[in-house]
Amino acid sequence: MSIEEAKKLAGYAAVDNHVTRPGMRVGIGSGSTIAYSVERIGEKLKRGGIEGVVAVCTSYQSTLLCRAKGIPVTTLDDPLVDGSLDVAIDGADEFDTGLNLIKGGGGAHTQEKIVDGAAKLFVVIVDEKKQSKKLGEKWAVPVEVIPAALTVVMKRLVSLGAKPELRMGVKKMGPVITDNGNFIIDAKLGIIDDPTAMEKVLNGITGVVENGIFPNMASIIYMGKSDGSIEVFKRT
Ligand code: A5P
Repeated sequence: MSIEEAKKLAGYAAVDNHVTRPGMRVGIGSGSTIAYSVERIGEKLKRGGIEGVVAVCTSYQSTLLCRAKGIPVTTLDDPLVDGSLDVAIDGADEFDTGLNLIKGGGGAHTQEKIVDGAAKLFVVIVDEKKQSKKLGEKWAVPVEVIPAALTVVMKRLVSLGAKPELRMGVKKMGPVITDNGNFIIDAKLGIIDDPTAMEKVLNGITGVVENGIFPNMASIIYMGKSDGSIEVFKRT
């Protein structure tokens, strides 16, 4: 089975198990795996049984995906939602044995952290390439930064022992600009022994908006595998 099929398994399983009731308020992450969950919610809405489900999206990408599939989109400020979601479904770039995550490969981690953190249940969907023993084995940590603070934050990251790189656009000259109008620095930190502490250190740098470490947030992870099975990891 290909990686895409494994992602689809995970994306569909999250919806089949957790988007089950009419009127549910659902957070929708960003990335390639969430596209399968959006597809599945769209199908279920058409089929009937989950009438009135609304989505709160984490990027222009997922907003457009939801609209294309006929899923009503709203915001956390909508009185119907009032800052609280029944469930959020989202991908990840890396997860460790404690279910801590690195996110932000698509530059959407700030809105993702807001939306995922507002959900009673945070469901993560991945393929097996995302599994690590410790965070940082595979990925740098994306750090969203106010453009005027770029040099200051870069220097601070170097002093912390990181190798920071400004993320550059593809088919766009210059740096990536996030949906919030900021830059992204990818900070190679090596192995992260204490994700909770590192998240705080990075967010403590003036000019940093949010970083891509999601410690102790995931409730359950569905990992689609190339043998066609799904492995489930639950927070205990
Ligand atoms: C978006 O910024 C990211 O946090 C994504 O959720 C993460 O990169 C997973 O993306 P894929 O599903 O494309 O791997």
